[in-house]
Amino acid sequence: MNYVTTLEGVNEDNIQGFFVDWPNPPSAKKHIEILKNSSYFWLAIDTSTNNVIGFINAISDKTLCSYIPLLEVLPSYKNKGIGTELIRLMLGSLKDFYMIDLLCDDDLVNFYKKFEMFKSSGMIIRNYKKQNEV
Ligand SMILES: CC(C)(COP(=O)(O)OP(=O)(O)OC[C@H]1O[C@@H](n2cnc3c(N)ncnc32)[C@H](O)[C@@H]1OP(=O)(O)O)[C@@H](O)C(=O)NCCC(=O)NCCS
Repeated sequence: MNYVTTLEGVNEDNIQGFFVDWPNPPSAKKHIEILKNSSYFWLAIDTSTNNVIGFINAISDKTLCSYIPLLEVLPSYKNKGIGTELIRLMLGSLKDFYMIDLLCDDDLVNFYKKFEMFKSSGMIIRNYKKQNEV
């Protein structure tokens, strides 16, 4: 496994299978665009296939605040510590910011507590029809 912060060698063929269970999942093209436009990202690459098998991204004002919108590991690679490593690497990238926020479902609260994150509350809007627009 290799963890990288570059899109070099990444194309629409080797970043497949993400956004599991999303009603209108973004295309691979849009996924690459999301990463390009993020302030920070880390990719997990399976060096035996050269496929992206996990990713995390963050957006930031580069001064005070950062937000982690997306983290995902492909189903067949789960529970091998890859998600943990992606969070560890991203928290390293964001360590100088005052705010490091993310939203998650209740069942993942204990997972994130391992990284000294604590539960808060938030308010959101979701425009579901925008999920897969390119
Ligand atoms: C969450 C996710 C990134 C973890 O990746 P991973 O590579 O499997 O993570 P690790 O192997 O490092 O750790 C797995 C841990 O996460 C826990 N976990 C993962 N999904 C969980 C869930 N839905 N509910 C409860 N625990 C969960 C596992 O039980 C395991 O706990 P343990 O360390 O105490 O054994 C991965 O399950 C995933 O992609 N999920 C779907 C997308 C998602 O929910 N992303 C998070 C958005 S906030």
